[in-house]
Amino acid sequence: MKATAKAHTNIALIKYWGKRNEALILPTNSSLSITLDKFYTTTTVEFNKEQATDEFYLDGQQVNEKEQKKITKFLDVIRKLAGKQEYAIIHSINNVPTAAGFASSASGLAALAAAATKAIGLAVDRRMLSQIARRGSGSACRSIYGGYVEWQKGEKSDGTDSYAVPILDAKEWDLTVLSVMLESKPKKVLSREGMKRTVDTSVFYDGWLQSVDNDLSIVKQALAVKDFEMLGTVVEKNALKMHATTLGADPPFLYWQSGTLEVMEEVASLRSNGIQAYFTIDAGPNVKVLCEPKDEQQVIAALNSLVAVREIFVCHPGPGVTYVPTSS
Ligand code: PMV
Repeated sequence: MKATAKAHTNIALIKYWGKRNEALILPTNSSLSITLDKFYTTTTVEFNKEQATDEFYLDGQQVNEKEQKKITKFLDVIRKLAGKQEYAIIHSINNVPTAAGFASSASGLAALAAAATKAIGLAVDRRMLSQIARRGSGSACRSIYGGYVEWQKGEKSDGTDSYAVPILDAKEWDLTVLSVMLESKPKKVLSREGMKRTVDTSVFYDGWLQSVDNDLSIVKQALAVKDFEMLGTVVEKNALKMHATTLGADPPFLYWQSGTLEVMEEVASLRSNGIQAYFTIDAGPNVKVLCEPKDEQQVIAALNSLVAVREIFVCHPGPGVTYVPTSS
């Protein structure tokens, strides 16, 4: 009744931006990401008949009631599938700088889904595991696999065809993803809330929906022929469109801060000097810069010269979910 799993975080090249079903976390569009080697969460789950509630410890600290409720709601999905009623003690160690605004929900919920299903004795294949992880946090469904991963949105209303599929193995194409952490203020709009406000109110949301499928097919073509310029160009355009939708929302909002723009400008300037580098930005001010490993040092040096840059983490494509032996 005890299991440990490790999952890595991912960065979307084509963004998941909008839900068609809030309760089941069904997206309005398909997305595609790279699972990263650097950041991960390791989670141990132990179900126990004696437990009266779930208890969740993050980096050794019990989380607040609101966080606790989210975990219980997620474990209820797994309990229902397993036909069991026991509560669990969960210990999660986050190797993701959460406070710095990096998304840890993907690795966190993927690791929890894997450890909890195993601990409760639910036999699941990767596809089913991806569907379960999706119920915790949309982007978590992609972290089940390593390398380049597509989350197929599916068509059905029950979500049984909405899961991730591996597109290209991490070893097949090594790219550099620089996670650029900025001197930033805390963000005001969380991704979940921002996504909902955009779908509900943005006058630009239709534009997003009309173009995202084409962006996705270009990324898949670029992956098939390993054309970095083709990949980077569309990745950048897709991120810009996602952020443009927030400006058309009511009330409008923007995740960028001044440092975000500094990095974007530096990436453009690197390109005008012949270095292929491209940016992407999630629901926060920090920027991820993509380049080829041969240009890594040069791109890091250029970004480090910016005042707004606090730290740069060098990432590469990484593995999917793994199970770690537990001492019982
Ligand atoms: O899975 P969530 O609820 O953390 O939302 C992720 C949304 C983005 O990071 C902005 C895009 C993505 O596809 O990861």
